[in-house]
Amino acid sequence: MQLSKDTPAIITGGASGLGRATAEGFAAAGVPVAIFDINEEAGLEVASAIGGTFHKVNILDEDSVVAGFEAARAAQGQERICVHCAMASTRGKTLAYDKESGGYKKLDTDTYARGVAGVLVASFRIASHSALGMSALDPMEDGERGCITMPASVAAEDARYFCDAAHVGRAAAGAGQSGCVRAVSETPRQAGRVRFAGHGTGAQWLF
Ligand SMILES: NC(=O)c1ccc[n+]([C@@H]2O[C@H](COP(=O)([O-])OP(=O)(O)OC[C@H]3O[C@@H](n4cnc5c(N)ncnc54)[C@H](O)[C@@H]3O)[C@@H](O)[C@H]2O)c1
Repeated sequence: MQLSKDTPAIITGGASGLGRATAEGFAAAGVPVAIFDINEEAGLEVASAIGGTFHKVNILDEDSVVAGFEAARAAQGQERICVHCAMASTRGKTLAYDKESGGYKKLDTDTYARGVAGVLVASFRIASHSALGMSALDPMEDGERGCITMPASVAAEDARYFCDAAHVGRAAAGAGQSGCVRAVSETPRQAGRVRFAGHGTGAQWLF
C-alpha cells in the first residue's frame, strides 16, 4: 500500500509501546492517524504530538469500540489501515505454589476467561468492525482496499517463551495470541472480498 493522506489509519493501544511507535511512524509518512486507547492522558499527548486524533476506547466494550470507529471515521474518513496493539489480559499461572497452604492452587477459570477475551475476543471485535468498513471501499491502484494488522507475539507460536521471567503467568495472554494467529489464517477463507497476505507473528490481512 502506498501511504498517503488518503490512507487513514486507526491504531489501538497507540498511547504506549508498539502502538505509539506505529502511530508516530504512520504520521511521519503523512498518514492521518486516529488513536484508540483507554489511557486518555497518554493518548491525548501522543495524538497532539503527531497531529492525530484521540478516541477514548475500551476494547472490551462493544459500544465503546463502535463509538470510536464512528468518531474516527467522521474525523478522517474510513480507515485503510488498522493496527491493533491494545491488549487487556490477566496474569496467573495455571498452577501456582501457595505459601499459605503449602500446596498448589489453580488459576480461577473466570480470570483465565477474561484474559483470553481481552486478547482474542477484543481482537475479533476491532478487526471485524474495521473489515466491514473497509469492505465498502473501492480498491486502490494496487488493488488493495486496506490492511488490518494484529501484532501477536512469538509466544503465540512457542509456549517456551512463557517460561522466562518476563512472561511467566501469562497463560491466558498466550492462549489468546495463539487464537489470534489461527483466526487470521482462517478469516480470509470466510470472506469473499478478502485477499490473504500472510499469517503468524505480525499477521496481516489485505482487503
Ligand atoms: N513490546 C513487545 O516487545 C512485544 C513483543 C511481542 C508482542 N507484543 C504485543 O504487542 C501488543 C502491545 O504491546 P506493548 O508492549 O506495546 O504494550 P503496552 O502496554 O505498552 O501498550 C498497550 C496499550 O493498550 C492500552 N490498553 C490496555 N487496556 C486497554 C483497553 N481495555 N482498551 C483500550 N486500550 C487498552 C494501554 O493503555 C496501552 O496504551 C501486545 O499485544 C503485546 O503482547 C509486544
